[in-house]
Parts: sequence; C-alpha cells; structure tokens
Amino acid sequence: MDVPNLPLHRRSDLPAGARLLKRGERVLEPDVYVADKGGRPVVVKDYRRYRGTPLSLAARLLVRHEAGILRRLSGWRHAPALVGMGALALGMEFIPGETLSESAGQVGREVFDQLQAALRKLHSEGITHNDLHGTNVVVSAGVPVLIDFTSAWRTPAWLRHSFLSKQLRRSDWKNLLKLRQRVAGIAPTPEQIARVAEPRWVRGIRNGWKRAYRGSKTIRA
Ligand SMILES: Nc1ncnc2c1ncn2[C@@H]1O[C@H](COP(=O)(O)OP(=O)(O)O)[C@@H](O)[C@H]1O
Ligand SMILES: [Mg+2]
Repeated sequence: MDVPNLPLHRRSDLPAGARLLKRGERVLEPDVYVADKGGRPVVVKDYRRYRGTPLSLAARLLVRHEAGILRRLSGWRHAPALVGMGALALGMEFIPGETLSESAGQVGREVFDQLQAALRKLHSEGITHNDLHGTNVVVSAGVPVLIDFTSAWRTPAWLRHSFLSKQLRRSDWKNLLKLRQRVAGIAPTPEQIARVAEPRWVRGIRNGWKRAYRGSKTIRA
C-alpha cells in the first residue's frame, strides 16, 4: 500500500531576511521564525506547508485557537501580544531573552515565584497552558513570559470545578514544579507534592493501563 506523501518535511519559503527559530518537523508543527514588520521583530508561526493538503483545516483551527487565546491575554506581561493572523499563520510580539531550557542554572527562585503567580492568574481566567516546558517559557529581563499556547485550553466558567479541569490545572502545576527543580534546583515541598498528586483512583487506572500496555508488548514480542 502506498503511504500518502504528507508534507511533513516540505519547507515553506521563509520571507527574505527572516530568522528561523524552529523548523516544524512533526505533524502539524509550524515553522517558527522572526520576521521584520514595520521595523519591529515579529514571531510568525507558519503552517502554510499544509495549504491544499488534508491537514489544512486542522492547521487553520490551530492558528485560530492560539490567536484566540493570545487575544484574550492581550495586555498581560506574561504572554506575547498578538500582532496579526492569516488563515495559516499567526504573528506575535517577539520576546527577547532565553528560554528556561537555555537558562538552566542561571535563573533562581524570583523568576519561578513570578511564574507561579502567572500560572495562578492564567488558571483564574479559566485557561490552562497544557504544555508547560522549558522551551515554552522565555525569560526576558528577569520576567518569565509564557509562549506556545497551541495546546492551551479555556474551560467555560460552569465547568471550572469539573474533574477534567482540575486535572489540567494539576498537570500545569506538576510541570512547573518539575521545571523549577530541573532549572533552578529547587525541590518541591511535601505540601506542593501533595497538592499536585493525582487522586488514588486516577493513579490506579494509569498504572493498570501501563501494566496492560507493557503486558501486550511482551506477548507480541
Ligand atoms: N514570541 C516569541 N518570542 C521569542 N521566541 C519565541 C516566541 N515564540 C516562539 N519562540 C521560540 O520559538 C520556539 C518554538 O515556538 P513554539 O511556539 O514553542 O512552537 P512549537 O509549537 O513548535 O513548540 C520556542 O521554543 C522559542 O524558542
Ligand atoms: Mg513549543
């Protein structure tokens, strides 16, 4: 059977003078680059390589989704401002600085205290980030700025106390504590560990699933 030739590695042309930040290699990952817009640097997340392909609709939805979240967060110092949006690309403020992954060992508690306050604020707006990793936080002049809201989710007010919503918030906190330990060497307190711990029944299902998965691999091998 022929495998359809999806354009995972097709390159979209970068505008002249653009500086590539990250080439989209996996499915529905954008090319991310810095371009000049009226003398000011703008980060573009570009999905144009999906134009005319079966994944074009999904790419459009991702663009609209991320732009919608950034629009909601406009004016907040912990997220880049939305600068523009097309069908298959969005543009946002360029945040000068280094990602937390790049600045391991160089940032301390004060940056993480700000990040904690930022996450609390984000959650109070009903938004979870859902991909809180070192490459998705840029530290700019000592201020942590959250980027990459592709996986973020805004829960309607009436569902904020739902199990799923709590689980998403817990998962953001868990990622933040892991990041803090890895980047700044600050271990979580026992209270913090308890706060992000999943209920026992969730852990039970997860572990049961892992065992079943491993078992099925052993049987097949
Ligand atoms: N607004 C921004 N300012 C500065 N750097 C950015 C910005 N947005 C993205 N980047 C850089 O580009 C990388 C990829 O962007 P990201 O939004 O995380 O895309 P992806 O969804 O492919 O992970 C980031 O890890 C960061 O280094
Ligand atoms: Mg990212």
